[in-house]
Amino acid sequence: MEDLIAGSLHCQTLFSKDRPILLSFDGLGYKKYHKKTLLYSTNPIFHLQLAHHFSGESCLMSNLDLMLAVMKILFIGDVVGRPGRRAVRECLPRLVERHRLDMVIANGENSAGGAGITPSTARELYEAGVDVITTGDHLWDQREVIGLLKNEPFFLRPLNYPEGTPGNGWLIWGRQSSSKVAVLNLQGRTFMAQLENPFIAVDRVLDQIREQTSIVVVDFHAEASSEKIAMGRFLDGRVSLLVGTHTHVPTADEQIFPGGTAFLSDVGFTGPQQSVLGREIEPVIRRFLTSQPQRFGVAQKDIVLHGVTVEVDNLTGKAQSIARIAEPL
Ligand SMILES: [Fe+2]
Ligand SMILES: [Fe+2]
Repeated sequence: MEDLIAGSLHCQTLFSKDRPILLSFDGLGYKKYHKKTLLYSTNPIFHLQLAHHFSGESCLMSNLDLMLAVMKILFIGDVVGRPGRRAVRECLPRLVERHRLDMVIANGENSAGGAGITPSTARELYEAGVDVITTGDHLWDQREVIGLLKNEPFFLRPLNYPEGTPGNGWLIWGRQSSSKVAVLNLQGRTFMAQLENPFIAVDRVLDQIREQTSIVVVDFHAEASSEKIAMGRFLDGRVSLLVGTHTHVPTADEQIFPGGTAFLSDVGFTGPQQSVLGREIEPVIRRFLTSQPQRFGVAQKDIVLHGVTVEVDNLTGKAQSIARIAEPL
């Protein structure tokens, strides 16, 4: 640790000139990027030391940004009801610590009693550490969602709803000292409502988004794996992560496509796994047996947070790794 501190002090001396000239000790480098000199470290611990040391304004030069070369993002699959919210609340702090997460995104379309989302269930997720909430076809199940669509800056609905629909289909998130991340929400059309074509909708906005940041995360809320894989291939090289949601069943096809886009067909759901997609088992079986409507309560047992982490190169937006997470309560 002493060495690290000494290293960062050494940096300071070099930076006190008008232009940074540093460069070559372990895990540290610099690049010219958007007319700025970007100092980066590939070593997270060393980076923390640097960030701490350069947090005083006298050390930061106007043409210098300090960034970690890699950004780590967690995406949490559909949060189902109270058990799902509890899983986020209790599991997220240890996941942030264990994986040194810079950002957390969650699909919240089932967070209110298993169907829809309200301002208070959204608030629970934000307070648990979720930075951005995405949704899907259950968006409209709770009337109060309109408050989120109109007022909440880090809340998304699928982009490909008709023009004039309240809310936003994409946003830019960023904290001081970390990179900006664009988050985009799309909904599929195979075996689902016939919204606008999601391929055309995303194509229309992507250049505009990438002018602001090269780190782009897409939640493609869709039923058919073919539609999700086709979307992943379509966006390969233009987004950092495309993750599928909606089926509530995790798939094992996580990979990084040749252009640098991390991909997973479906991340699964967060909530009670002794269930049928998060709901009590018996009423669902009864429905299939009798074809009569039943009340589907949220199940309670075997609560797991399902998610996926991705490491993204800050400069290029390309994914470096992708890993599935199944964290029991
Ligand atoms: Fe859904
Ligand atoms: Fe869902």
